[in-house]
Amino acid sequence: LVAGVDSSTQSCKVVVRDADSGALVREGRAAHPAGTEVDPEAWWSALRTAIADAGGLADVAAVSVAAQQHGMVCLDAGGSVVRPALLWNDTRSAGAAADLVGELGGPAKWAEAVGSVPVAALTVAKLRWLARHEPDNARRTAAVCLPHDWLTWRLSGATGPDQLTTDRSDASGTGYWSPSTGGYRPDLVELAMGRVPVLPSVLGPADLTGRFGAGAGDNAAAALGVQARPGDVVVSIGTSGTAFARSARPVADRTGTVNGFADAEGGHLPLVCTLNASRVLDATAAMLGVDLAELSRLALSAPAGADGLVLVPYLEGERTPNKPDSTGALHGLRLDTATPAHLARAAVEGLLCSLADAIDALAALGTPVRRVLLIGGGARSAAVRELAPAVFGCPVVVPATSEYVADGAARQAAWAAGGSDAPPHWSELASTSFEADPTPWVRERYAAARELTVTREG
Ligand code: XUL
Repeated sequence: LVAGVDSSTQSCKVVVRDADSGALVREGRAAHPAGTEVDPEAWWSALRTAIADAGGLADVAAVSVAAQQHGMVCLDAGGSVVRPALLWNDTRSAGAAADLVGELGGPAKWAEAVGSVPVAALTVAKLRWLARHEPDNARRTAAVCLPHDWLTWRLSGATGPDQLTTDRSDASGTGYWSPSTGGYRPDLVELAMGRVPVLPSVLGPADLTGRFGAGAGDNAAAALGVQARPGDVVVSIGTSGTAFARSARPVADRTGTVNGFADAEGGHLPLVCTLNASRVLDATAAMLGVDLAELSRLALSAPAGADGLVLVPYLEGERTPNKPDSTGALHGLRLDTATPAHLARAAVEGLLCSLADAIDALAALGTPVRRVLLIGGGARSAAVRELAPAVFGCPVVVPATSEYVADGAARQAAWAAGGSDAPPHWSELASTSFEADPTPWVRERYAAARELTVTREG
């Protein structure tokens, strides 16, 4: 047996699977506080509860932990947490990111150095924020790691910060590790915080320490979990919206739209991330006073394009485009479009259009887009499933499981424990396919409304 963990922004899930067949044996879950700043002890206590809920790990040969990317976990010399972790969705480091981009000589320099251009999400920007705003905490910081590194370290019983490990996929989200050279860039850590604390050693994708796999960032683990093939673009609608695909070669996008991350299989994972995803549906449902099923029914009852009502979904500021201070906007509100059905339709279409922008950015860098694998909580919405192929302009496949991140971690554990050259092939997940005629006018109206919003926000 092998186990995989998904410590996400909202909760912790554990799956125990048969290493050879991939059959699900047991699972467990627990909630932890969400937000943008969280005490890592809350993740640890949720992980322990989820493991107990899954019947423990005593009979498991290997376990891998996947978790939300980028979060800055600072440890002092004794291994204690210095301050609550600043998470991927915390935008206070936006100014720090902009400063770092300027100081290195512009976005192209960063893309060349580490495959990604810093935005508030990247750990390097959070380190700069810490050094500028909490110098005492920065001074006490002896080691910096990511959520999955810290959880693996706790699970393994290690105590010294020098025993921290990470993997290529999560290291590539820091902004100070290069996916093309496979090495840290201590000079960039120094640029961010004036010195270089201990950084986790970076394990290969099938390395095992004791019975612990290298783990991964959640998106890379999801790519492993859905067994993505060439031509597949995975679109995840969770707390974040992400679009990503596996690539054999490193990607460096000078515009900063696409992050040139590493994957969890020794290759690369060009990825676009938006800040506004499933909560666009939650917020619209709450505004209308309905549940998500009714929101979906309302959206499907309105015509394509919602008679010109467009919702630009930047409710929490946005990362792609990099407009941390932008807000959402409704365009085209008239007496005849001021109905719950039109608003529901505009919310679903607005969310899908922002993800279609992300898919386009991947395609512009040469990523083939034959079909979209749609995952995440938002993929449970009937309206999202049915409208996605029309907005994306390609077939959409929704896998039956919802635990693809934990599944990917379990598959990595099976790979590490089995010692073979490639991850085991587990039987394909049951899935449902959706196709529809493309609706280019929906995206054209969205693009026009988005330009107005973004321009006004400066
Ligand atoms: C990716 C990103 C998010 C988090 C969510 O760059 O910031 O997808 O990994 O957990």
